[in-house]
Amino acid sequence: MAESWVNYAERIGADLHLELSGSGGRRAALIRALREAVRSGRLAPGTRLPPYRSLAADLGVARNTVADAYAELVAEGWLTARQGSGTRVAERAVPPGAPARVPKKASPRARGPRHDLRQGTPDTASFPRADWLTSYRRALQQAPHEVFGPGDPAGRIELREALAEYLARARGVRTEPGRIVICSGFAHALRLLFPAVLRGPLAVESYGLGFHRELLAAASVRTVPLPLDEDGAQVAELGRERAVLLTPAHQFPTGGPLHPERRTAVIGWARARGGVILEDDYDGEFRYDRKPVGAVQGLDPEQVIHIGSLSKSLSPALRLGWMVLPERFVDAVLAVKGEREAWASVLDQLSLADFIVSGSYDRHVRRMRQRYRARRDRLVAALAARAPHIEVTGIAAGLHAVLRLPPRTERSAVKAAVWQGVALDGLAEFRHPAAVTAAPDGLVVGYATPAEHAYGAALDALCGVLPPG
Ligand SMILES: Cc1ncc(COP(=O)(O)O)c(C=O)c1O
Repeated sequence: MAESWVNYAERIGADLHLELSGSGGRRAALIRALREAVRSGRLAPGTRLPPYRSLAADLGVARNTVADAYAELVAEGWLTARQGSGTRVAERAVPPGAPARVPKKASPRARGPRHDLRQGTPDTASFPRADWLTSYRRALQQAPHEVFGPGDPAGRIELREALAEYLARARGVRTEPGRIVICSGFAHALRLLFPAVLRGPLAVESYGLGFHRELLAAASVRTVPLPLDEDGAQVAELGRERAVLLTPAHQFPTGGPLHPERRTAVIGWARARGGVILEDDYDGEFRYDRKPVGAVQGLDPEQVIHIGSLSKSLSPALRLGWMVLPERFVDAVLAVKGEREAWASVLDQLSLADFIVSGSYDRHVRRMRQRYRARRDRLVAALAARAPHIEVTGIAAGLHAVLRLPPRTERSAVKAAVWQGVALDGLAEFRHPAAVTAAPDGLVVGYATPAEHAYGAALDALCGVLPPG
């Protein structure tokens, strides 16, 4: 019979599940369970075992039962006991005949490409560890006790207040904290909204992230591709769809902004048809040739669900994002969120609130803007010098660029890149399967991922795989 989950993280920094089962009494059951844990590698050589007292308390057995079990396993050579260093798993605890632990060989995939120019990830080496730690420490010190209880599905008020101020100032979003719901990023926002709050069909840009389309399909939402041109999504084509998903600041991935007339037109469509605009502001802060254009949400907060996240600006690992909702959706979203207990870590939320209020977020974004801009400039310069027939399309913004290729060369360029150890995608990768029109051949080049010292070599390798002029 299973008797207990044993959590003894206090000293060894690990959890262990011990099942005291079978015949022969508790001492014998504990010996068997510990042997099994060592044999299977769950307790690694050198690991310190918990003191008799705490293991006994966790398992609900007598202290002597644990002491006897440890003594037996020391005698058998599974454990060692030394004055001052407690009881530990013996360094060579695996008995003869037990399967040897084979060190894992890195698969070629795990090693990754030599030059990673895929879009998607920010420069991970630039994560502001010291400033984040300062905010985290301050948040932890100042947090009231109730922080360590269950969370609020809307998210911490400190963060919602900080975001309301920041988004108004930096992105032209019109809101107040009561309309903001914290979530774990854009993908999570889609999962919360569909199908519980919004239903399809949903118009999407004919080029976008396949992952988001799949996620919507899994929620039984039909997506209808909207054609794109140099002014962005052709919103005049919107018909009976109930909602439209747009990347107005910087179309993903083709790279243009939504034309001002189309921004107004899509608001007109939403008002006339009762439709909803989902604004994916994934990299809105990163514009290099001018001040970023404000969010479409600012034109009419009742028609737009504005969604942002830290995934480009700070790190996708934090899994933090936000939705700015029209008044009429707030309760419905909170109901879904509360039901699923899908709350982002409260300490991370408080750290981010401090990070924003203390000015660290602004400083970080400014620093990264300069860094990414310099990366983009180097890409443009390398192409001008070595492949002048290849044009960089789209605006100077974000963490990726699109290189326009001569007709019918995209596939061979992607293949050549694979051979040369350069990871990148062709534009076709992002095309909606039902899109009627196709963008010209192109490569999507993410310039944020390579380490600074490796970027020059990555650009050399890229120039080497481009089709000749
Ligand atoms: C088009 C687009 N939208 C949104 C996001 C953000 O997604 P998430 O917040 O789920 O990490 C990304 C990736 O960072 C993206 O490429």
